[in-house]
Amino acid sequence: MKVSTKVERRIRNYSPQGGLDQTSLIFLKLSAVNHPHVKAHLERVALLADESAKVLKKDNKAAFFGGLLHDVGKIILPYQLFDGHDIDTKEYVEVKTHALAGFEILRDLHLFSACCAGIHHALYKKGYGLMVKDFPQDWSVDTIRKVLDISAIISICDFVDAFTHRKTKIKDQSDSKSPNLRGMLKDKYSNDQGTIDVVLRINKELNM
Ligand SMILES: [Fe+2]
Ligand SMILES: [Fe+2]
Repeated sequence: MKVSTKVERRIRNYSPQGGLDQTSLIFLKLSAVNHPHVKAHLERVALLADESAKVLKKDNKAAFFGGLLHDVGKIILPYQLFDGHDIDTKEYVEVKTHALAGFEILRDLHLFSACCAGIHHALYKKGYGLMVKDFPQDWSVDTIRKVLDISAIISICDFVDAFTHRKTKIKDQSDSKSPNLRGMLKDKYSNDQGTIDVVLRINKELNM
């Protein structure tokens, strides 16, 4: 079965509350117009995050929708930024705005997924985007912990998928000390070794 068909079925089967299924389907349709690479990436990250969260005994439905929506901020950026060419430092500054843009787009639609989108690049060394201090002030510690747990899974799935599929290289961002995926993950997510192991294994099994 095609990845996009699998994702669409899963969206409907999960039948989430608050119209999140319709929101997700609309964003996928919109991203298909100018951002087919982003759409394919969102779909793979959603499935990878879902299956990884199941193994890690976390809320896999939250991981699925968080993964599916984590890069919606990209669809308001020029598609040329994601066409596979090597982007320069100036373009990278523009690309980095997608995290906070995603948070803004989603915050009134689904706050949990909005926070996952905002923070997914802030969970590793030298990251960017939303900070924990920007989370709603009335959230309990348990809710904050859950967003961080799910976002860490999404962030690692995101990195693995980008490494595996994306052709774009960012100039001046190459890291010669960490030439392989596991090494780069270990360096970036030093506190998440267990999650890294699971995501790498599931990524291999799903073979998308
Ligand atoms: Fe991203
Ligand atoms: Fe991403």
